[in-house]
Amino acid sequence: MQKKSDIGLIGLAVMGENLALNMESRGWNVSVYNRVHPGAQTNAVTRFMEGRGKGKNFQGLTDIAQFVESIQTPRKIMLMVRAGSPVDELMDQLIPHLAPGDIIIDGGNSNFEDTDRRVAYAESKGFRFVGAGVSGGEEGALNGASIMPGGSLSAWDEVKPILQSIAAKADDGAPCCDWVGPGGSGHFVKMIHNGIEYGDMQLIAESYWVLKQVLGLSNDELSDVFTQWNGGRLNSYLIEITANILKFKDKEGDYLIDKILDTAGQKGTGKWSVINAMELGMPLGLIASAVFERSLSSNKEIRLEAEKIFGHDKEQGLYNKADMLKDVESALYASKLVSYAQGFDVLQKASEEFNWDLNLASIARLWRGGCIIRSGFLNYIAEAFEAKDKPRHLLFAPYFSSEIKESLFGWRHLVAHVLKEGMPVPAFSSALNYFFSLTSGSLPANMIQAQRDYFGAHTFERIDKPRGEFFHENWTGYGGDTKSGTYNV
Ligand code: 6PG
Repeated sequence: MQKKSDIGLIGLAVMGENLALNMESRGWNVSVYNRVHPGAQTNAVTRFMEGRGKGKNFQGLTDIAQFVESIQTPRKIMLMVRAGSPVDELMDQLIPHLAPGDIIIDGGNSNFEDTDRRVAYAESKGFRFVGAGVSGGEEGALNGASIMPGGSLSAWDEVKPILQSIAAKADDGAPCCDWVGPGGSGHFVKMIHNGIEYGDMQLIAESYWVLKQVLGLSNDELSDVFTQWNGGRLNSYLIEITANILKFKDKEGDYLIDKILDTAGQKGTGKWSVINAMELGMPLGLIASAVFERSLSSNKEIRLEAEKIFGHDKEQGLYNKADMLKDVESALYASKLVSYAQGFDVLQKASEEFNWDLNLASIARLWRGGCIIRSGFLNYIAEAFEAKDKPRHLLFAPYFSSEIKESLFGWRHLVAHVLKEGMPVPAFSSALNYFFSLTSGSLPANMIQAQRDYFGAHTFERIDKPRGEFFHENWTGYGGDTKSGTYNV
């Protein structure tokens, strides 16, 4: 009789296939299963078993009952399928075959509320469920990903050896995989990771565009700039691949980047980050601007029409190349700090709201390797959250506040110059506006409160009275004294 597998994996698309190979390469026996598509010539299981899985410790099965039977109990079954209804459908197909205590791991980009629901459902049936965010794309899945598991706590000891073995290792050797928390917290953390990814990508795109359009740098020069930045405080995977992309030539010998249509796609995790930040009442402006900019970019037709009507009144100032390069680097770095500060603030708020008890330092550490936003500077974030006097806001941590102070001059000058050139820098300017609002002890919100009270008796607090006392004014002489409720969303 064939030895039972250590783990089962469902879904042999690119991520699933690579994760299965990664597990097998670490010494685990893996059963793989994929739905057989009606009318298909060959199924994914046969293709895999005769292709990349050939001669390795895999059992390939196309019958779900046999697949479940081939795994040793308590079973660990990882789903690598499209987020949404496919996960629920598979759970329904699996459950009749499972034994009490078996564990389902969802490695897709699922919505955290779906994961909350699935954890409760699986536990109500005597099973366990882990929602594990997995980042790193194809390469990470094969050689080491960043994995963010959360859900049924008792499952962690069982899945830990396998998940940590397939995770990337940070520079200090620590696996980029650790327990995040209960319910859908693992998928929430992955969602914020993706939101930050959107922000980083938008900031890099703006930097590229300013240097190309204002300074007129060639693709090779641009590639050199990003390579140089990658050697400094901006060191990160996304900066590294940007340098590679800029110098990449296609079969015709042309720079491919210049042939790619400027319309950005999105699968939804950036949008979810912003929706959830809004639900939590937290500012996540930089990521929001990155999401909205992708939406605007995707409507190329309207942009072309608007360009014809309005053109662009450019100032074409004279810039010193070295100074501008320095300013773009400052703007990119400072805006990135703002974006991470906003993202971690949302995580903190979600932790309090949902009783997740998230360890922000540990989250920063498990993003240091394997994932798309991996970078050295996540070490400083971890250190800030571990300090004896935990900062109330990431930007207040001594390291980050001094970095921001040092970058501020270049950042604000760059944004001002570029806006005068008529060029959009929505993420740079969103971050700068956030920074100025955050650091303003006084804001014009008194006017908003006055207007709300004027037209709707929504009341206001006064600077000469204790917080929490609400007042209404009869502004027009004909309004009454009846106040509206003072609740805040
Ligand atoms: C990762 C990525 C991945 C994401 C893609 C595409 O961490 O490996 O975040 O999960 O799906 O990057 O995302 P968009 O299509 O939304 O850009």
